[in-house]
Amino acid sequence: MQNKFYVTTPIYYVNDQPHVGHAYTTVLADVLARYHRLLGVPTFFLTGSDEHGQKVAKAAAAAGLTPQEQADRTVVRFQQLWKKLGITHDDFIRTTEDRHKLIVQKILADLFQRDEIYRAEYDGWYCVPCERFFTEKDLVNGNCPDCSRPVEKIKEANYFFRMGKYQQWLIDYIQTHPKFIQPDFRRNETLGFLRKPLADLCISRPKSRLNWGIELPFDADYVCYVWFDALVNYISAVGYLADDAAFQKWWPCSVHLIGKDILTTHTVYWPTMLQAMGAPQPESVFAHGWWLTGGSKMSKTAGNVVNPMEMAERFGVDAFRYFLIAEMVMGQDASFTEDSFVRRYNSDLANDLGNLLNRLTNMTGRYFEGKLPAPAEDARAGAEEKELWDAVQLAVTTMERSINEMRLQEGLGAVIVAVKAINRYLELKQPWTLAKQADKLPLATTLFTAAESLRVCAGLLYPVMPEKMTVVLRSLGQTRTTPQLDELRAWGVLKPGAPVKEFGPLFPRVEKEAVSDQPAAVSQKKPAAAAAVPGVVELLDYDYFAKLELRTAKIMNAEKIAGADKLLKLEVLVGEERRQIVAGIALYYTPEQVLGKTVVIVANLKPAKIRGVESQGMLLAASKGEKLVLVTLDGELSSGAKVK
Ligand code: MSP
Repeated sequence: MQNKFYVTTPIYYVNDQPHVGHAYTTVLADVLARYHRLLGVPTFFLTGSDEHGQKVAKAAAAAGLTPQEQADRTVVRFQQLWKKLGITHDDFIRTTEDRHKLIVQKILADLFQRDEIYRAEYDGWYCVPCERFFTEKDLVNGNCPDCSRPVEKIKEANYFFRMGKYQQWLIDYIQTHPKFIQPDFRRNETLGFLRKPLADLCISRPKSRLNWGIELPFDADYVCYVWFDALVNYISAVGYLADDAAFQKWWPCSVHLIGKDILTTHTVYWPTMLQAMGAPQPESVFAHGWWLTGGSKMSKTAGNVVNPMEMAERFGVDAFRYFLIAEMVMGQDASFTEDSFVRRYNSDLANDLGNLLNRLTNMTGRYFEGKLPAPAEDARAGAEEKELWDAVQLAVTTMERSINEMRLQEGLGAVIVAVKAINRYLELKQPWTLAKQADKLPLATTLFTAAESLRVCAGLLYPVMPEKMTVVLRSLGQTRTTPQLDELRAWGVLKPGAPVKEFGPLFPRVEKEAVSDQPAAVSQKKPAAAAAVPGVVELLDYDYFAKLELRTAKIMNAEKIAGADKLLKLEVLVGEERRQIVAGIALYYTPEQVLGKTVVIVANLKPAKIRGVESQGMLLAASKGEKLVLVTLDGELSSGAKVK
């Protein structure tokens, strides 16, 4: 077992309100911290705010505030968001705090004294928004190589850190420590950057140009460059040069989580700074991708910036946390759209997880007076029970691996597969049929096995959705609702006789705007509108109804139709006959969810082409407002039966 886990987020600039990028890194760090705490590993989770530098000074000037006032006001928005999102950081460091400023000054004084920092005349190019210096060669089409904006010519005396002399050492270090920069392609990016000669780093700004920063201890006319100041937060927060015991305990950090745009500062500036200080290197730096809207960058001017506070308020904190972790392949860019959010919410959370809890609590209520029944002694000897337990244990193994390999989305995917397996197990065992037998033991075993399996899934999901999974565990009758990871491998943790009940719907379905005019069905031509008298339903002769041929049909195959996100192409069995039906249900059901269901179809409609695909019938569904549920049978009738 690891002896400790220390995770950091970047410290965020307090020039503007938090957005989804900030929320992502912080939720990710929180999930990792929570997993390690569950594993019993001593954990330290650090986040904070980057309060000096030009960006903050500029925002303050625009708002008519002092930079400190600007920082004081904005930092609260980050702190409130972390509270709302259930973030469990152990410390929040602000770079304007004395505990940080004093350490930065100590480091500067020491490096200056040892000639790791020197004074020189600087003549070159400067990018104001990025606050970085560039040589002529660095520029791309005469502009900043990072943000492509115009640069300014600058000539002034400054202080420089001898970063260049560490170039070969850094290349060797990266090559001999493959875990140091992750994912691999980011490691190659840094090595690529290091193929060009590494210049020394300008670490000062003359006060005449910018006075919002930490004063250099050896020259009161200058403040420290904001990045040199900011990076030090990772060690000043854990006692560097102040509290040796704390520093020894936590440093080196296990993982610095960062966005891909701040790779160079974290994998070139920071390691060389630490090397010059004589401090150990962090174990790893993990750079994640960017959240885009559709395919484009989020930007204030485009008006497409996702506001995390608003998302959490509209859809719930846990659902938002889940989406962030499940949707982004760690390291790659991902797209944040409301559509993708709602789709994932409805399929993974409302349908798979929420429904499962609802079915279990309902059936326990109905058949066992709301008390978890005791299973057969050899419950897991049954083939289906064994298969299900294996599927659930596979999710445990996958989750463990996914945490170590920083592929959390895979772990979550495995849990949802396990949840689906529990749902399938219930379909297969048909507790509603077992309930008719005199011997209640098979029914008890079925419900207990499903509940135990759900308990394990809830434990695995707990670090991502702590509030909702606490509800699940309470619903299953657990009194201690913080799961322990070793219990996830154990069978029989739930106690027979414990009260099982639902505390309201776990994830109420989110209904998007109407999917189509005739959502469930097949947008065959609409019948001529009945006389439009409000509240009056036109009455029909029986003969009219008798012409309709309604039949049961079993869904054998289901798939999405490329380019039509509301439609599913179904292959159904009607008695001996196979038919293809196109149904507008894809926003309500995934293909997996409809597989095996026995539905009711209108069997004597003329075939129609929908998006070029032939549809030979129409499904019946009940819809109210924007809700839609397929009309299904419990499966006791074979397909092809007439519905009258
Ligand atoms: N203050 C520096 C970090 C100093 S760490 C010693 C900084 N702050 S920031 O507020 O501008 O950005 C913080 C983080 O947000 C960065 O990791 C950046 O990559 C991330 N993101 C900004 N926009 C983002 C998205 N659209 N998507 C994902 N992350 C994004 O940089």
